[in-house]
Amino acid sequence: MAGQKKLLRALAGEKQDVPPIWMMRQAGRYLPEYRATRAEAGDFLSLCYNSDLAAEVTLQPIRRYGFDAAILFADILLIPQALGTDLWFVTGEGPRLSTITTEADFAKLGPASDIHETLNPIYETIRILSRELPSETTLIGFAGAPWTVATYMIAGRGTPDQGPAHALREENTALFEALLARITEATIDYLSKQIEAGAEVVKIFDSWAGSLKGEAFQKYALEPCRQITAALKERHPGIPVIGFPREAGEKYVGFAKATGVDCVALDNAVDPAWAAANLQVDGCVQGNLASRHMVTGGQELVDETRRIVEAFRNGPHIFNLGHGITPDANPDNVQLMIDTVRNG
Ligand code: CP3
Repeated sequence: MAGQKKLLRALAGEKQDVPPIWMMRQAGRYLPEYRATRAEAGDFLSLCYNSDLAAEVTLQPIRRYGFDAAILFADILLIPQALGTDLWFVTGEGPRLSTITTEADFAKLGPASDIHETLNPIYETIRILSRELPSETTLIGFAGAPWTVATYMIAGRGTPDQGPAHALREENTALFEALLARITEATIDYLSKQIEAGAEVVKIFDSWAGSLKGEAFQKYALEPCRQITAALKERHPGIPVIGFPREAGEKYVGFAKATGVDCVALDNAVDPAWAAANLQVDGCVQGNLASRHMVTGGQELVDETRRIVEAFRNGPHIFNLGHGITPDANPDNVQLMIDTVRNG
């Protein structure tokens, strides 16, 4: 595997003395250069659909920090929009969408095959990045997992407990499952086009997987992730997939084997020593420094970073945060984290 990019080597199962490193939401509001480009674009969604500016913000943290991977700048809620849902962002509050709670709402959605007209600028962003990224940097594409995307489509916004989605799942299971199937199909096509455009790895974000329990977790978190992974690997043999069943707790155990993903991304709650013993035995793991250290910094950041690197030293590991970096983070703390991972 000599000569291959560091991130791809980790995903292929290679243990490295210094793990590759990148950061969720690495292009974001904590960076002054991101805020400037976002102001130029006007608003967040305009930035997502402006291929030149989206490529620019993707490249900013690579230039500043030399991360081993760049993640496409886009959002998991572009799929609902491409299926015909209204989507807008309220400053300081988050996303708003037209809701899907009845058969009539569902009937208004377009077919999965129609999403590309809306999403073509995203594929163009990837083509630009494939040309412009340094040769050692891996390009990651992504999508939301069907359950997480459905929670926003059903509630029309982010919710603390995903209550409206759980209610629909229980009260109109057929409609809920039809919605999940539509999102799954669209996600396979979307990620497939991202790979054709140049994404070298794809990541499936199931941010709300932790609120599914027992059999519901198997059916609505694990099974869609397995379907998407299988379809992508059939169409694009060898494409590495990272799964992120956030807050899955003990349900992380066996998730990689059951879904076929090459790597599981770990959230803040997972203990690294436990994960090394129970998850890394199945392959690569990614994570999981708590994002708050990017705000607080100092010796605690250094100690915790070393503890994570040490815990995963005997197997394949990608260093990352346990969730996205927040807008109040100090860019100097990101550099301190990287220096600690790379220089010990
Ligand atoms: O990681 C990256 O840098 C890649 C780009 C990316 C964004 N969102 C950019 C973004 C990715 C991978 C996402 C995923 C995403 N989006 C998730 C799953 C991961 C997670 O965080 O749990 C979810 C649930 C969303 C939906 C979403 N997008 C919300 C809830 C919000 C509002 C949050 C807020 O703080 O306002 C967004 C907006 C968003 N997506 C921003 C960024 C950089 C902030 C937008 C801005 O500039 O105002």
